[in-house]
Amino acid sequence: MIYAEYNGSSPLLPSVKDFLKKRMETHLFGNPNAIHSIGQKLSSGMEKSRTVVAEKLGCHPDQVIFNSGASEGISNILFSILEQRKENQNIIITSPIEHAVIPNALNYYQTKKGFQVEMVQIDEYGRVIPESLEKLLSLFGDKVALVTIMAVNNETGVFQPFELLAEICKSRQVEFFSDTTQLIGKAPFNFLDSNLDYAVCSGHKLGALTGSGFMLVKDPTQLLPLVFGSTQEKGHRGGTQHYLGIETLAIALKEFAEHLPNLPRLEESKFKFENDIKNTFPQARVFGDQVKRLPGTTLIGIPGIHGQAIQIELESNDIFVATSAACSDNQPETSKVLKAMGVTDDVGRGVIRISLGCHQGEAEYALLAKNLKAAYNKLSKIHSY
Ligand SMILES: Cc1ncc(COP(=O)(O)O)c(C=O)c1O
Repeated sequence: MIYAEYNGSSPLLPSVKDFLKKRMETHLFGNPNAIHSIGQKLSSGMEKSRTVVAEKLGCHPDQVIFNSGASEGISNILFSILEQRKENQNIIITSPIEHAVIPNALNYYQTKKGFQVEMVQIDEYGRVIPESLEKLLSLFGDKVALVTIMAVNNETGVFQPFELLAEICKSRQVEFFSDTTQLIGKAPFNFLDSNLDYAVCSGHKLGALTGSGFMLVKDPTQLLPLVFGSTQEKGHRGGTQHYLGIETLAIALKEFAEHLPNLPRLEESKFKFENDIKNTFPQARVFGDQVKRLPGTTLIGIPGIHGQAIQIELESNDIFVATSAACSDNQPETSKVLKAMGVTDDVGRGVIRISLGCHQGEAEYALLAKNLKAAYNKLSKIHSY
């Protein structure tokens, strides 16, 4: 079996599984906010995890706010920024390649709260063009309430110039948010060095428990809570904390740090795989292959056979891939990310996304190549579009 869907969700890491197995044998379950000794032990586990997260990601423990994951973090940060905007600020600038959570949230702010949403431009490699942001900022001036542009795209794995975009916004005193969901735990990231005021993370993207995550907030005193509760997370996020999930976040980030030296090998094996496929199928196209991408992500289009057909054929051999993003996989059209890159339907429909974990490499890519070639050759004899 090859699970090549790490951008959709990563399986639990071995160190996380070991921790959970051991933990299930203890009686250490309770409310981490209680003052009895069980509560205190759970709270101490959470605080140690907060320190590890802060150490691994280059921030202060007070800047780490645990929550249920990226969708919640993004909703909270957009809410906090937009609720506190100045009266004349009604413009939100974003990109056409954001994960669904951003356009869906912005659709709410547009239709219910009267904001106007403006789009930056994307180049053929799937990168935001910084000059198009500068143009929009010059056009709308101090009416801009927020710029929200992701750090790494979930479909192509392409890095956006988010540090530069943050700098552009800072120089004009405009609020900037960058969705870091696909960055944290997949490539090195340091909050302090990044120039960002916020970051978000979902545990299941890095091999920790689903339903756990955090926000990093440069100045938590400026953050309005989205989830009200008691004194949890110093009032920044109410609700009894997912203490098991929180501990797995710290464990997963520690394991990721150990796998860092493997990333160049993973990327090298990926390039070999991509070249092999392109040599076998000259009509194949790897999206974003000219620019910096996540080491284990390939979005590849082989025109002629629908991506979903290839996905199903691969699955019959126990190989799991996606056709675009896991959450929009059931839509048989060219994804909006590819459309924004100027990709037409003849190429866009034949796309699959292969995303591996940071500890994998040559062996997985060799099997993927063998099976992908076999699947394409088999299907092209039966049906093509
Ligand atoms: C870029 C990006 N942002 C946000 C999310 C939302 O993450 P979650 O569903 O874990 O809240 C995802 C998940 O695929 C993502 O890839």
